[in-house]
Amino acid sequence: MGTMTDMTTDPPRGASTWDLDLWTHLTSHVEAERGLLEEYSAVAEQSESKAFSYLVKLLIEDEVRHHRIFIELAKSLKTDAEMRREDPIVPYMDFVRADRAALLDATKQLLVSEARDARELKRLQRELRDVKDTTLWSLLVDLMQRDTQKHIAILRFVRKHAGRKSVL
Ligand SMILES: [Fe+2]
Ligand SMILES: [Fe+2]
Repeated sequence: MGTMTDMTTDPPRGASTWDLDLWTHLTSHVEAERGLLEEYSAVAEQSESKAFSYLVKLLIEDEVRHHRIFIELAKSLKTDAEMRREDPIVPYMDFVRADRAALLDATKQLLVSEARDARELKRLQRELRDVKDTTLWSLLVDLMQRDTQKHIAILRFVRKHAGRKSVL
């Protein structure tokens, strides 16, 4: 996490107030998430319960990803604010570079697959009703149902914006 330390101590040069406010917000969130991550790790290691440790590890996976994304947002803000001639880690909305019809086709196809996935998970969830309070299985399927909703949100974003003019 050395890169983050350098990054937090070093706000973007020549940045606007908006940039600096957002920078402060993003980097302080990174610090908060790191504290949470350490808390979770300690809790997972100490517990006698394998079920609890298993679930906390799932949370940790998410928090690690959140941590990474916040760092990427902060770095991209910096690249942007300093007007450097390099691509930010979080790319610009360059959907326009792609063949619009092909992109929309692929997105629609993926949305169909996710919808099918959602239906299958729902059916699976019904099958698990009997063990819903005695195993972790139903919870895990519930989490996958939420992930599927997230995947659908990502694809809908692409579908909505792929046809528009880019801000490049
Ligand atoms: Fe988080
Ligand atoms: Fe999915």
